Amino acid sequence: MEQKQISKAVISRLPRYYRYLGELLEDGVERISSGELSAKMKVTASQIRQDLNNFGGFGQQGYGYNVKYLYMEIAKILGLDRPHGLIIIGAGNLGQAIANYTNFERRGFIIKGMFDINPALIGRVVRGVEIRDARELEPFIAENDVQIAALTIPKTMAPEMADRLVKAGIKAIWNFAHTDLVVPDDVVVENVHLSESLMRLSYRVCSMQEQKEKERERAAKKKRP
Ligand code: NAI
Repeated sequence: MEQKQISKAVISRLPRYYRYLGELLEDGVERISSGELSAKMKVTASQIRQDLNNFGGFGQQGYGYNVKYLYMEIAKILGLDRPHGLIIIGAGNLGQAIANYTNFERRGFIIKGMFDINPALIGRVVRGVEIRDARELEPFIAENDVQIAALTIPKTMAPEMADRLVKAGIKAIWNFAHTDLVVPDDVVVENVHLSESLMRLSYRVCSMQEQKEKERERAAKKKRP
């Protein structure tokens, strides 16, 4: 496949394409036009064509897109065609929730280990994965094929832990702690902040309410003699 430099904006949209195409595959759909995909995803057909043209154009005039082929090509681009070893640092509420979510494994993210400092948690097993003492972290990373670390510890602990992970060879941090991490250029961080997402939702629902309020006021003014 011919692949040119793909913009971050396009990359950020790929997981959504991947999810929709996966659903189409499950429904037995073999091909789809950009128009049909556009109606399903609520993205314009031209945006879809532009996005997918980045990968050498999987679509054919009059045929549309081959769903399976497109799904597999996007998987390759996203690196989902190979397994990724993942460890979870912090086996509290969030760490255990992630470990209990089986879908990550279906996507190739294999939870290899969990680590904590709380003696009451160390030794417990969550869906087949033992919670280990955080002191065992470095040798574990050295001996196991681990690429990604999920950071689900308090934010005060996160920068120091990130340094340890980087020194131990971790190249990707899935950061849930509410703090910005400073890492070398060859390490990638993906911040996940549910509360920020909730704030955006709050903004949208409030602006919608304000808009309706204004419309009501305008309508009431018009009615007045
Ligand atoms: P929790 O208190 O249930 O779990 C935190 C765990 O980290 C505890 O078991 C604790 O013993 C362990 N821990 C503390 N320092 C450690 C260290 N140096 N090494 C290894 N383990 C250590 O807290 P919860 O609810 O699971 O939240 C964890 C973190 O995730 C918090 O920072 C919280 O603010 C954040 N969070 C972020 C969300 C997001 O959307 N980004 C959503 C929910 C929580």
